Amino acid sequence: MVEFRKILRKDIPAEGAAAVQLGEPQEISGPLAACATEISDERCFSERLFLDGIALNGAAFEWAATEDLGEFPLATHIDSLAREICDRLESSAAWKLLCITRARSEPDYLPAHSVSSAILSAHIGLRANLPDERVIELAKTAFMHDIGMARIPRVWEKEDKLANHEISIIQKHPLESLKAIAASGCCDNPQVSVAAAEHHERADGSGYPHCKTADNLSEPSLILALVDVYLALTHPRRHRSAMPPFDAVRAISGMAGKAFPMSTVRDFLKIMSLYPIGSAVRLNNGDIARVISSCERQLTRPTVKVIIDRNGFPIRDGATINLKNEELIFIREPVCVNSIDTVFKLG
Ligand SMILES: [Fe+2]
Ligand SMILES: [Fe+2]
Repeated sequence: MVEFRKILRKDIPAEGAAAVQLGEPQEISGPLAACATEISDERCFSERLFLDGIALNGAAFEWAATEDLGEFPLATHIDSLAREICDRLESSAAWKLLCITRARSEPDYLPAHSVSSAILSAHIGLRANLPDERVIELAKTAFMHDIGMARIPRVWEKEDKLANHEISIIQKHPLESLKAIAASGCCDNPQVSVAAAEHHERADGSGYPHCKTADNLSEPSLILALVDVYLALTHPRRHRSAMPPFDAVRAISGMAGKAFPMSTVRDFLKIMSLYPIGSAVRLNNGDIARVISSCERQLTRPTVKVIIDRNGFPIRDGATINLKNEELIFIREPVCVNSIDTVFKLG
């Protein structure tokens, strides 16, 4: 927790810092976890948007695999998707869409990852008060940022550790993504779409393909790169299991001043909070709740919605509690409700 305090000290009131609860996430499984997957009707809109995005990304991927990158028929669809995402994120139901980014992404990681990247990048862009049109461009770029994978040999599907020459192949995908985005005409602002080429660059020069440093990386590039890392950490891959959101945020805080500028990580943490939207926490009264909104001034006191009561019974439409206004209720620890990730299984 030391690293959080170092980064956030100047933004958190003294009582907020003191309220930080340490402790490793506790696993919940079995019937309780199954109950936590209850899907309300209201959530269907977000699910449909997410699934539409996955289908659209799959179609864009097929187009990107063609040698000549001919006419791109999906630009207006992608624009509509990005605008719908932004509209939803500016509504009171934003949390439902953000929770969907926790959806399980196997067996086909890239399409779900691409849609989630668009949602989270737009969320951060909006909360950072970027102009609306710039946020839409960022969402579209994020949606297409890994499309270059279609233009390289599929070594990224390998189960085993990659050989050096295969890593070199993977490192070509950001520039191939930018090439495909330019050919598609779906992102009008080159100052934003360059983020696709730079989403694996790092502030300390340790990234690829050009080992750029912080001075040469734009704000959209840094937002997309952080979102990319966060989503990669919090979703299972062939060679490792998923990291709980709380741990991923902690890992990212450890990258401040190294892979990412301190200010970029600070802004990211303020928006994502220590307990990211969609993650689950145990309250001091024993209830288990899902985080639905963060509080920038008090990162340990987000707004939560109770999903399992203190006796272990699932609650369909549990109480919404703004912890900022509660003196006696606070987060005791992050928890892993396995099946929050299985909102629906893809594939
Ligand atoms: Fe990538
Ligand atoms: Fe990515």
